[in-house]
Amino acid sequence: MPSKQRKRIYFNAFNMNCVVHQSPGLWVRDDDHMVDYKNLEHWTGLARLLEKGCFDAIFLADVVGTYDVYGGNRNAAVATAAQIPVNDPMLLIPAMAAATRHIGFGFTSSIMQYHPFTFARLVSTLDHLTRGRVAWNIVTSYLESTARSYGLKGLPEHDERYAMADEYCGVCYRLWEDSWADDAVLCDRKRGIYADPAKVRDIDHRGRYYTVQGCHLAEPSPQRTPVLFQAGASPRGTDFAAAHAECVFVIGSKPQIAGQYVADIREKMRARGRDPADVLGFAYMKVIAGGTEAEARAKYNEYFEQISYDGALALMCGWSGLDLSGYDPDQPVEYVDTNAIRTMLHSFSSADPSRRWTVRDIVRYVGIGGAGPVLVGTPEQIADQLEDWVAAGVDGFNLAYSTMPGSFEDFVEGVVPVLQKRGRMQSGYAEGSLREKLFSRDAHVQPSHPAAACRRPW
Ligand SMILES: Cc1cc2nc3c(=O)[nH]c(=O)nc-3n(C[C@H](O)[C@H](O)[C@H](O)COP(=O)(O)O)c2cc1C
Repeated sequence: MPSKQRKRIYFNAFNMNCVVHQSPGLWVRDDDHMVDYKNLEHWTGLARLLEKGCFDAIFLADVVGTYDVYGGNRNAAVATAAQIPVNDPMLLIPAMAAATRHIGFGFTSSIMQYHPFTFARLVSTLDHLTRGRVAWNIVTSYLESTARSYGLKGLPEHDERYAMADEYCGVCYRLWEDSWADDAVLCDRKRGIYADPAKVRDIDHRGRYYTVQGCHLAEPSPQRTPVLFQAGASPRGTDFAAAHAECVFVIGSKPQIAGQYVADIREKMRARGRDPADVLGFAYMKVIAGGTEAEARAKYNEYFEQISYDGALALMCGWSGLDLSGYDPDQPVEYVDTNAIRTMLHSFSSADPSRRWTVRDIVRYVGIGGAGPVLVGTPEQIADQLEDWVAAGVDGFNLAYSTMPGSFEDFVEGVVPVLQKRGRMQSGYAEGSLREKLFSRDAHVQPSHPAAACRRPW
């Protein structure tokens, strides 16, 4: 087999600090433990399980708003626990880090929710406490309820949010990369000098959306800038990804669709002077594994019967920005431009002209583990299909679950050993920060990344 086909496949476990992340209806099962999301042991146990399975990272989604597009209110979301109630993802990380040594922690934070000065310090704190194991999923928010809760009249327009995100990242980069010199911290006990004042400087940012005149409050952390994830796939979203992302999170109902998203981003990176190898493409994926194919199918069929129609539509309408409550379940859904996640409707319409998706099809598709495809079968069958996806151009997967922790247990016990035997999954961890583990090189951003360009000489 050519070596390209044996390259290692990356795996993140996709989760959220709430009862229903992506499987509306399944939380009621006795074997689903997400109602324990308020207990630290729930999270530290998951982190240990995933580290045993050599996952690269736990990837935590988040929204700061409620899903109130479906029917024009949040009733369905609240009743079915569709991402509400939802607790903060960042606060879980120190506990999970203390329970593990290597696994990374990706968390989502919207540019709407913190001023960049506050956010940069939170991230540096986490990067210190985890010894460089954090990644930030940069999101721009898609729920109007978010805007109202933060005192805005409405969400800024889709592309303007990306312009804000460009500036937000720029401020963070300068705080992380430029404010403290590498040799600023002396920790000189004999002289009683902790840091050299000449090596700590203000950033002086006066931009369109943010003003920061001051120095970063945290000393340089292992990675300085965290590993950067991004998930937007609209033309403006992929421009943003090409500028900033080190890992992209793509949705495609088929391997070729996901692979094409990654290829488009790599092309745009090339045009910007970034090496396309500096990004890893993670496809959204759901896996239902069983000892036999029949066993896996039986699980799938059982889950399928338990999907909450209202819960799935509450999520889908929030993601897409389109209220489908007036649609007949068998009505096809066409692409329309909205102010929300444009990729979402695109992936169910123009991205796959071979298929016409009805509302019911979408509910059945997203109801078990969210808006990505589901692989059902034995560990070998699943490993074969994952390899097909990688052959189509993705580097790894963000694995959503049907039941928690059962889906991850099945994967760790069944699929991981098969992939490891095939040389497709790591059997242990490299030392160092998350960036070093993912890219086998420096803990810091690559020189062609815009964060590196923020470093002025001392
Ligand atoms: C697979 C996927 C996962 C996402 N996860 C989150 C999330 O957890 N929180 C959030 O606020 N936005 C999330 N988003 C929204 C995107 O980050 C982005 O802000 C939004 O999709 C608008 O970009 P687009 O229209 O370019 O796709 C996600 C999007 C996708 C496609």
